[in-house]
Amino acid sequence: MDKQAIAARILELKKDRNATILAHNYQIGEVQDVADFLGDSLGLSIKAAQVEEDVILFCGVHFMAETAAILAPDKTVLTPEPEAGCPMADMIEADELIRWKKDYPGRPVVCYVNTTAAVKAECDICCTSSNALDVVESLDAEEILFAPDKNLAGYVARNTSKTIIPWDGYCYVHNNIHARDVREKMERYPAAEVWVHPECRPEVIDLAHRVLSTGKMISEARTTPSQEIIIGTESGIIYRLQKENPSKLFYPAKELALCANMKKITLRKVLHSLENMEYEVKVAPDVSRRARGAIERMTQIT
Ligand code: 13P
Ligand code: SF4
Repeated sequence: MDKQAIAARILELKKDRNATILAHNYQIGEVQDVADFLGDSLGLSIKAAQVEEDVILFCGVHFMAETAAILAPDKTVLTPEPEAGCPMADMIEADELIRWKKDYPGRPVVCYVNTTAAVKAECDICCTSSNALDVVESLDAEEILFAPDKNLAGYVARNTSKTIIPWDGYCYVHNNIHARDVREKMERYPAAEVWVHPECRPEVIDLAHRVLSTGKMISEARTTPSQEIIIGTESGIIYRLQKENPSKLFYPAKELALCANMKKITLRKVLHSLENMEYEVKVAPDVSRRARGAIERMTQIT
């Protein structure tokens, strides 16, 4: 079957299975094209909680599908690739978080959504890249534990008067975007603005005009008067930016900023998933209930 035929079959099966496809902005173009909803972590969580169809086929990394399963417990949540994890999410485990909390009694814990359900279940509130600062500001505490991304923690720390105590995790994709990569692109495209994700290194953030989640990059790109933008995040987002804004030019800060796990999902795997109704993502009820509390406390303040 060629790609067009696969895409057509996916659309048929979506109807037969009463399924909807949610996909993250880093998915490959052909997967983005069969999705019913594309978004960042926050947008996808909100959408998952509102889905009316029986089945959510989630094209993103595992913690995102898990979040959908937590927020839509009556739906069948499928991932086309159970091995698509997030290395940053795996940098903290629930027992490590429990020990860390004991070292800092009384401090609330903010967990980035890039964590496992078991870790979310141990935290006070979740955040995403688009609301981390609002979440921190909402807490009635002056010292806050923040896990697992030290770069996002550092970005928040620079914008709040509160003391942020970071876990030592990071995203290898964003951490591999260096200031020299951005400077090279700025020299090559002097008229371009620089937009970066808050998972980037502090010295990269220092060079940026805007610091945005992937969802905000998408919405701001529609309205910005800037015609050229250097994008400091995973390069898969360029496909959507360019498709939705054909008259503007988007340059990746680093072409090779690719999340290998996001790229594990292909059109053929999406088809396989719908044909065979696999691979179901399930979260243990007790973990799900506690993780859901932390996610809902976040969505209430956003
Ligand atoms: P967004 O929520 O901004 O899409 O970020 C998710 C992510 O995994 C970034 O690497
Ligand atoms: Fe995780 Fe980084 Fe991939 Fe996002 S880009 S899913 S943070 S490894």
